[in-house]
Amino acid sequence: MPKNRYFWIMHTFEELSTLFSETFEKTHFPKEPQTLYEPNNYFLSLGGKRLRPVLCLMANELFGDIHPDAWNVATAIELFHNFTLIHDDIMDKAPLRRGRQTVHSKYSESTAILAGDVMMIRAYEYISRIDLALVQRILELFNHTAVAVCEGQQLDMDYEQRSNVTMEEYLEMITQKTSVLLAASLQMGGILGGGSYGNLDLLYQAGKKIGLAFQVQDDYLDAFGDPEKFGKQAGGDILANKKTFLLIKALEDARGGQKEELDALLAGNDPDKVNRVLDIYRSCKIDDWAIRLKHQFLNEALRHFDDMAVVSKRKLPLKELAQQLVKREN
Ligand code: IPE
Ligand code: IPE
Ligand code: MG
Ligand code: MG
Ligand code: MG
Repeated sequence: MPKNRYFWIMHTFEELSTLFSETFEKTHFPKEPQTLYEPNNYFLSLGGKRLRPVLCLMANELFGDIHPDAWNVATAIELFHNFTLIHDDIMDKAPLRRGRQTVHSKYSESTAILAGDVMMIRAYEYISRIDLALVQRILELFNHTAVAVCEGQQLDMDYEQRSNVTMEEYLEMITQKTSVLLAASLQMGGILGGGSYGNLDLLYQAGKKIGLAFQVQDDYLDAFGDPEKFGKQAGGDILANKKTFLLIKALEDARGGQKEELDALLAGNDPDKVNRVLDIYRSCKIDDWAIRLKHQFLNEALRHFDDMAVVSKRKLPLKELAQQLVKREN
């Protein structure tokens, strides 16, 4: 079939994730010193959903065949994401990730700091490989995103110490720590595809909404998910007094004795803290509310995709992926 601008191949999430993994799983790190690079190879070998690189590649396919540099950008994004996870697990004192030991608990905190650092530097190396005509725009967005993630992560920790965090503050915090990287992944794919400013802006807005739905689901799974499938410590957020949307809503809705019990659980060290907090969440029907909230964000994301000036059927893989994400169990 002759190739024209309406006949490029579109891929599904599964296809792009497989294609990406084939290139990503090439070695990014040398052998020596093994004490530094083995932790990185260990962590990357644990997989993950590869969501962000797929978002980048899918957004690129809205506008044509995958640009050769999209693989470099997608690789940089996934390395950057893995770096944030290694450091996040130190900050959150998390023992488990992707169903296995976290880097700092398997090796040491100092090693995990360095392993994360070198992974982030490697991410920038992939950015430096792209076409000179594109590198400045991509780098600017990459840096802007990286700074926002740091800001969001600091707010996340600050909020552990506060009991009066509002829903608005929470949404701002998760926008920074999670959503902007999803939004930037989509927008970078769009930039490589030569998307118009209007379409690039809509991609970014859609990514932010997908990110909010994604983090709401992450908080939900941390409390109510199946730890076998989720791969992280059950109730980790409750143990760390994380201000998740579940806790903020429960603090708003709990009344009388229940409110006092919740305050006491947050202040103390009850060995049954996770179960008791979960009981309060259930009786306040926070789980039902969560489902409504994530669908609201999903619908907003879908509307941004609808508004894009791109042939409708080209948007289907992205719309399907957004819908799958709110149902994720891992
Ligand atoms: C985890 O991201 C960090 C959050 C923003 C909640 P993912 O759930 O995409 O992690 P992996 O890469 O699939 O393990
Ligand atoms: C993670 O938020 C955001 C980043 C890693 C930047 P969480 O702390 O909720 O992520 P998980 O639950 O550990 O994956
Ligand atoms: Mg965290
Ligand atoms: Mg964490
Ligand atoms: Mg989480």
